[in-house]
Amino acid sequence: MKLAIIGGDGIGPEVVDVAMNVLKAIAPKNEFEYESTPFPFSAAHFLETGHILDDADIAELRKFDAIMLGAVGGLPNDPRLAGGVIEKGILLKLRFDLDQYINLRPVTLYPGIETPLKDKTSEHINFVCVRENTEDLYCGLGGIVRKGTPQEVSNQTMVSTRFGVERCIRYAFELAKTRDRKHLTLVHKTNVLNFAGDTWLRAFQEVAEEYADVETGYHHVDACCMFMVAKPEVYDVIVVPNMFGDIITDLGAAIAGGMGIASSGNLNPDGVAPSMFEPVHGSAPDIAGQNLANPIATIDSLGLLLRETGRIKSDPEAIKCGEQIGAAVKLVTPKFSGKNLDRSGYGTDEIGRMVIDAMGG
Ligand code: IPM
Ligand code: MN
Repeated sequence: MKLAIIGGDGIGPEVVDVAMNVLKAIAPKNEFEYESTPFPFSAAHFLETGHILDDADIAELRKFDAIMLGAVGGLPNDPRLAGGVIEKGILLKLRFDLDQYINLRPVTLYPGIETPLKDKTSEHINFVCVRENTEDLYCGLGGIVRKGTPQEVSNQTMVSTRFGVERCIRYAFELAKTRDRKHLTLVHKTNVLNFAGDTWLRAFQEVAEEYADVETGYHHVDACCMFMVAKPEVYDVIVVPNMFGDIITDLGAAIAGGMGIASSGNLNPDGVAPSMFEPVHGSAPDIAGQNLANPIATIDSLGLLLRETGRIKSDPEAIKCGEQIGAAVKLVTPKFSGKNLDRSGYGTDEIGRMVIDAMGG
């Protein structure tokens, strides 16, 4: 398996290094063969060279089976990075150009991890968000006129294509079908977004007819936020458009123990371009280079990379490695009990060793 590695900025390179050490330890045991190639794309690289990520880079990345990304982004108030130049230029360009149309974000309370929700356990917080990843408000359509005058007008257009919505919904139904509860909730805001919501709701209802074994439900996104906090056990799989998905998955990360453990995959499920895996957290420049960052989210994202890419590319050895990494993470998280996960009290490299030990060294 050919892996492209984008360490990125801040804590990104540290947590990715630790994750790759975990893979190095587990791969030979499963006769899994891989090669990894580093790429410099990051805010730091842009500031140094003026180069962000161009079409030739995308063509190069297409030659890989999957991409592991740490985090990209510089200091929050750097005027040279204003307007989301790095977010749009790297992260969103990769997601769009490689047609990674699913953003898969598990919300799972791992053993020993504390949730801020009173009386909720791993039994209650165990669902996965399927966030559409190539449309909606993220298309960047819109404009601004009469800027800086009292008559200023700006608009930003929400895009929902039947094709894009339906392929996302289908993926979510297929996923729900494989799970114990087989329950899928559509989250939208059809009472106000009556055009976009209509496209989503009809596609959802029509595809549902092909999946008699999957139970379905619908929640408005505001109610979803309330349920995620008050009664997260109602959810098994959620399918949600891009922008609402961005918001509710941060809430999801918070109820499952914080950004220190939230993993994600940007999937091209058809395998025509590489998928990309990344922790949900950012580059955390304030703690970079101090061996403080918790690499669990990245290690877990690597596990997801191996399982998902293994499935897409029919590579059973990769799947085995991914499953072992996922299981080892659940053996390590109880050791974080009572500690702030984002700064767990263990060193970044120490946590990597704990995962390797949990896999049997
Ligand atoms: C995420 C991030 C990105 C998003 C930003 C950095 C563009 O918040 O991965 O959730 O909005 O998708
Ligand atoms: Mn986000």
